[in-house]
Amino acid sequence: MLATLYGRALDSRRPNSVLNDVEAARAVTRIDYDFRKTKMEGTSAVGVAIRAKVLDDWTRSFLDTNPTATVLHLACGLDTRVQRVSPPDTVRWLDLDLPDVVALRTRLLDLPSGDYRLVGASVTSDSWLDDVPADRPTVAVFEGLSMYLHKQDGKRLIERITNRFPSGQLLFDCYGSLGIKLQKLVPAVRNAGATLRWGIDDPHEIETWHPGLTCLDALRSVDMPGLENLPLPGRVSLRVLARIPGLRDAGRILRYRF
Ligand SMILES: C[S@@+](CC[C@H](N)C(=O)[O-])C[C@H]1O[C@@H](n2cnc3c(N)ncnc32)[C@H](O)[C@@H]1O
Repeated sequence: MLATLYGRALDSRRPNSVLNDVEAARAVTRIDYDFRKTKMEGTSAVGVAIRAKVLDDWTRSFLDTNPTATVLHLACGLDTRVQRVSPPDTVRWLDLDLPDVVALRTRLLDLPSGDYRLVGASVTSDSWLDDVPADRPTVAVFEGLSMYLHKQDGKRLIERITNRFPSGQLLFDCYGSLGIKLQKLVPAVRNAGATLRWGIDDPHEIETWHPGLTCLDALRSVDMPGLENLPLPGRVSLRVLARIPGLRDAGRILRYRF
């Protein structure tokens, strides 16, 4: 959570920033922590910003068509997505993360105006979803979450969302199983002492979890729009990765409709 926040802050300080997340940069200055420990630097920081931009753009696109929608921004961490997307007042926006994270978020970031709720709960518990009215098209965006869940918890989350709301979209990133096997090679994961569990190799498998659930996009990390903004060493590494079967599928960003 601190690593990705720092990545967006670093990106915002670049002259050709991808995300321009000045709120992230402001939050970083308010945390007394040596962010160099996250091992975020040039390429990984811009990579985080590029991934966030794809999910921001997909969220905006859903809200353009559904201006009275509900947004479930799950595992929000310290991400200022609601400020970046800046939804109209007609949108109901819910940011959710574990209670400790929500307490920190309340101290660090200004609460946006409008129909906004910040909820401290686990995505695996039932109660928070029962409290969200099921009256509107709903987009659930969860970045940097799926890989931390056990597959059965991820499946149950997707089933509960798709069963509850009349229609909507799911927007999230995932690792492939090779990415899960090689997780200790990712500095931010290694340094956080985190354990990644769930890898998705076939995005179509998820379509079988709810009638009408359809994969609209499965963008591989090596094919994301905006990669030309990476520093040169990052662009070269990605060109090489894109040619290696298995490794080129190590990460994806997924968009489903239901
Ligand atoms: C890698 S961080 C990503 C945070 C944010 N989405 C971002 O991109 O900066 C993973 C986030 O998932 C949250 N998380 C992990 N397990 C969770 C759970 N069961 N319920 C809710 N949040 C969870 C963590 O607290 C953390 O904020």
